[in-house]
Formats: sequence, structure tokens, C-alpha cells
Amino acid sequence: VRPAAAEDAAAVAEIQVGGWRAGYGSILPAGFLASLSVERRRTWWGERIGESLMTVLVVDDGGEVVGFVSLGDDPHPGACELYALYVHPERWRRGYGSSLLRAAESAMRDRGFAEAVLWVFAANDRARRFYEHHGWAPDGVRKLEEIGGVQPEQVRYRRRFQAETGPPEGELTPGPA
Ligand SMILES: CC(C)(COP(=O)(O)OP(=O)(O)OC[C@H]1O[C@@H](n2cnc3c(N)ncnc32)[C@H](O)[C@@H]1OP(=O)(O)O)[C@@H](O)C(=O)NCCC(=O)NCCS
Repeated sequence: VRPAAAEDAAAVAEIQVGGWRAGYGSILPAGFLASLSVERRRTWWGERIGESLMTVLVVDDGGEVVGFVSLGDDPHPGACELYALYVHPERWRRGYGSSLLRAAESAMRDRGFAEAVLWVFAANDRARRFYEHHGWAPDGVRKLEEIGGVQPEQVRYRRRFQAETGPPEGELTPGPA
């Protein structure tokens, strides 16, 4: 796992669009998934990789990028958000996602964050099980956001980093309002 470079934008875009299509077929409309453009996503990532608002890490297997994770503290300074975590669908269940998540958690801890949050589709059982195995848990906050003409429910997951060595949970930083 290494920081993404500008040249990784194309691979990141392809993995993300492939991940949406393979992972969200039962959650988002087929027409919307078909309309996603790798080209547009590449431009989007090209503008963000290397800038300070977002950290992007990729997992590189012998020179081939097979997954990525992005994180940052927008929109809630003090807590970090894991924005996106995608592995190429042909490479699922080989440990790449776990490597990316561990690296993302280290990056968050290194920056002094005591906790992190992420949003996942309520119906995304594969990802929810994965996060739960890695110590993340739903914190009770849910939202509906229009995506591709539907409003799939999203649930927020939270992970505290200092519970093992610090004070008991609850005495740590309060959650976002
Ligand atoms: C969720 C996602 C990132 C997981 O990536 P991954 O590379 O498959 O993750 P891993 O291989 O580390 O772990 C996945 C499962 O495979 C298992 N696994 C890992 N290595 C394995 C191996 N060699 N043999 C068999 N199983 C294995 C893990 O135990 C894990 O099981 P669990 O989910 O029950 O804990 C991936 O499925 C993905 O990109 N999904 C689409 C996008 C998405 O939903 N992202 C999250 C949005 S918030």
C-alpha cells in the first residue's frame, strides 16, 4: 500500500466504476450504473490525488493497482472520514481490502484522530460484514441521499482508535452532532 500518484487516476477511476457496477447492482438503478463514465471519474480523481484535502492510498500488486482508499477530515474537522474503499471486483476476497483498511486506519491514527466514520449503503451486506470484522460498528445515524434517481438508505459506521489504551469509551471525543 502506497500513496496514490497522479498516474494512478485512471486505475482508480476504473476500479471505482467497476466496484459500483459489481457491488451496487441490487442497490442502484441499472441505467445509472451503465451511465457511469470511467473518463469522467478519471478527471475527478486527477484533480484530487495529491491535493491536501484528501488522502488517497492504493494497493499495488507487482506494479498493478488493484484497489484504493480515500480519507480526510471534511466535513467534520476532528474526526476523520473514510470516503471510499474499492478493490477491483476480480480481486475481491484476497485480502487487498483488509490491507487498505489497515493502512487507512494507521494514516488516521498517525494524524492524531481518535476516531473515524464512514457511510455505507444499508443494503451493502458484503461491505458491512467486512467493516464489522475490522472493528467498525454502526453508530445509529442514517441518511437518505438521492443517487441515480433513488434514495438508498446509508448507515454511518464509527471506529474509535484509542479505546484499548485510553479512557473508557464515552469519555473520548464526542461524536459529530
Ligand atoms: C468491500 C471490499 C472493499 C472488500 O475488499 P476485499 O479485497 O474483498 O477485502 P478482503 O479480501 O480483505 O476481505 C473480504 C472477505 O474475504 C475474506 N478473505 C480474505 N482473504 C481471503 C482468502 N485468501 N480466501 C478466502 N477469503 C478471504 C475476508 O475474511 C473477508 O471476509 P469478511 O468480509 O467476512 O470479513 C470490496 O468487496 C469492494 O470493493 N466492494 C465494492 C465497493 C464497496 O462496497 N466498498 C465499500 C463502500 S463503503
